[in-house]
Amino acid sequence: MSVFLRIMPTPTFLTMPAVGVDISDTSLKYISFDSSWSKKERKLKQWGDITIPNGVVERGQVQDKGQLVAVLKEFKTETKAEFVRVSLPEERAYLFETEIKKNTPLKEVRGLLEFKLEENVPIPSRDVHFDYTILPQSSEGRSVQVAVAAYAKETIQQYYEASIEAGLHPISFEIEAQAMARAVIPRDLGGAVMLVDFGRTRTGVGIACGGILLYTSTIDTGGDSLSQALRKAVGQDISERDLTMIKNTQGLIRGVDSSDAYEALLGAVSVIKDELATRMQYWHLRNGNSDARRINSIVLCGGSANLKGIPSYLSETLMVPTVRGNVWENALSLEETIPPIDRQHSFGYATAIGLALRDAS
Ligand SMILES: Nc1ncnc2c1ncn2[C@@H]1O[C@H](COP(=O)(O)OP(=O)(O)OP(=O)(O)O)[C@@H](O)[C@H]1O
Ligand SMILES: [Mg+2]
Repeated sequence: MSVFLRIMPTPTFLTMPAVGVDISDTSLKYISFDSSWSKKERKLKQWGDITIPNGVVERGQVQDKGQLVAVLKEFKTETKAEFVRVSLPEERAYLFETEIKKNTPLKEVRGLLEFKLEENVPIPSRDVHFDYTILPQSSEGRSVQVAVAAYAKETIQQYYEASIEAGLHPISFEIEAQAMARAVIPRDLGGAVMLVDFGRTRTGVGIACGGILLYTSTIDTGGDSLSQALRKAVGQDISERDLTMIKNTQGLIRGVDSSDAYEALLGAVSVIKDELATRMQYWHLRNGNSDARRINSIVLCGGSANLKGIPSYLSETLMVPTVRGNVWENALSLEETIPPIDRQHSFGYATAIGLALRDAS
């Protein structure tokens, strides 16, 4: 389900690693690795973060293509990139699971799934691009589970056209949470993992089993709402930099003399916690509380994952072990190389890293 490659033919001679480009409402982040295929030898080649002005992309919808082209051209100038792998907003994704008969010939699978689109995606199937992944299954049983990811053609078209106009060749499109899953979920981790991308204006939520994304949704609040709450508590004219300081050094740790900031942050974060709890309940219910589908870890990424104390706060309130993601988990061996992006700044790059890693898998 990871790629929408079939939309445009890719030259088969393509072996050159592409740059992973994560486009969100507020920023474009990019990552590329050198061409090495093994984690031990791989090195980070290019990386960066370009601000996207307000109003250009809103909740994943491109509102001002001209301005997005300008941002992508800036990216092109910085990197000289030609081939890119671009993220798609989870706000716009439709994910569902369905069953097909075991041993269905590969060439029939898409046709069968097209029928299933009607009942699972609220737009006419002729206006939809979709991709699918067959889930690993035990040998018994006469059917297999398939995870399907769909987007309105128009959504992908906007990102595609903007890339082309900027002189770039997109070779794949992928839901951001799927890319994040590829970057941060340890290869040997079983069960379901909840991925939380705690960004600036929103918090992305994904649930993956065996590295395959099966659920996504978006919570409409992020680091900005923490900043707002803090301003109310400690003063309106405090700079964003100082707010980041407070978030990262005091955060959710109750201090002796700073309980105002603590209360403010706790209030803002508890809103997100409640939303996560709701989604978790929904997921467990939808899967009949099956053990195999039980969420047994939460992995946090996004810049706001830096908030001090947030892993233990979520672990305790949601009763699921929560950790900050190692964004290099599947990309680099930290014994062989020290990545030039420090840990604090790394959390925002998880999606871009996952996109760039597609070449490796
Ligand atoms: N050390 C840090 N470095 C960068 N951002 C930080 C740091 N600590 C906290 N943050 C917060 O992280 C947020 C930015 O996160 P991120 O870069 O993941 O957002 P984004 O991808 O641009 O936005 P979104 O995904 O919401 O569209 C800001 O709200 C910022 O205050
Ligand atoms: Mg982001």
